[in-house]
Amino acid sequence: MKGWMGKFRALSLLGLLALVLTGCGRENLTALKPKGYGAETSLHLIILTTIVMSLVLLVVAIVYITVLIRFRKKKGKEDFIPKQVEGNRTLETVWTIIPIILLIIIAVPTTIATFDLASTKGEKDHLNVEVTGNQYWWHFNYKGEDIQTSQDLYVPTGEKVYLNMKSSDVIHSFWVPSIAGKMDVNPENENTMYIEVNEEGVYWGKCAEFCGPAHSLMDFKIIAVSPDKFDQWVSDMKDVDPDAVAGSKTAKEGEKLFQDNNCMGCHAVGSSPVQVGPNLTDFGNRTKVAGVLDNTKENVVDWIMDPDSIKPGNKMSGNYPELSKDEASKIADYLMELKPSKVTPESAGE
Ligand code: CUA
Repeated sequence: MKGWMGKFRALSLLGLLALVLTGCGRENLTALKPKGYGAETSLHLIILTTIVMSLVLLVVAIVYITVLIRFRKKKGKEDFIPKQVEGNRTLETVWTIIPIILLIIIAVPTTIATFDLASTKGEKDHLNVEVTGNQYWWHFNYKGEDIQTSQDLYVPTGEKVYLNMKSSDVIHSFWVPSIAGKMDVNPENENTMYIEVNEEGVYWGKCAEFCGPAHSLMDFKIIAVSPDKFDQWVSDMKDVDPDAVAGSKTAKEGEKLFQDNNCMGCHAVGSSPVQVGPNLTDFGNRTKVAGVLDNTKENVVDWIMDPDSIKPGNKMSGNYPELSKDEASKIADYLMELKPSKVTPESAGE
């Protein structure tokens, strides 16, 4: 009785854990609800292999249970030895060929998908974005467009976009689960993958390679908008006048503080290629500060005052003079007014 209770407890605990884990994940951060070609292909493979493996499990379980029941030692037949099938050629052939067929059923589509998703054949005919992984943020340089962004990658829906990835420091991994598979982002070589997003939306991306103390906070977003909106975004972003701040008095003062306090040494506003720190051109349009906090003034001020408490090990800490809360607040006003385009995460339905 006691043993049975123990097993029951362990099972209910496992069941509870499974139930809790099913709550993990979000609509725009799951490979199980694909919104892009790569993720769709992966899901098809996951379903195919799950079906094949379940069939194998089922057949093995049936044979196992049948044998257990049929060949139990029975009263009065203690010495009974059933007919032996050792060396039976037909049986040996069948259980060698069936696994080979099952493996082929899995291997062929997997190999085709692997080559397809790694193909760079159409690279020259489509939009190319240079992706740089940095501890702990992402930079996007739209090749041939003179546009630089950080953290938010805008792409048109229904079109292939090729991502040429490299790291400026350690190995990272680019992963937007609902859009495509992962790709390592290495310091010594460029890796290329393409994405194709089916519908408008804001999709969450994660760094999927342990890269330091703030690895789990190295988030980014893919913002997929219709091709029309994307064209609008491109023309807005090309036309950014870094000096044309929308206009509140504090924002103007903030802009001056931003220039006087060495911020421009690392951050660019506009299409300048400086990328020691994230490009801030469209900061006001981002939904997150530092990739993880909601873009509210309070959070921006907290970030400027003490970045290390939010993202341990980031390179901003200690690289600018200490600021008063009032100064940080003015800089926050300036940054939050940097909204060069009407095409924003909200236009994608966030
Ligand atoms: Cu970058 Cu983990």
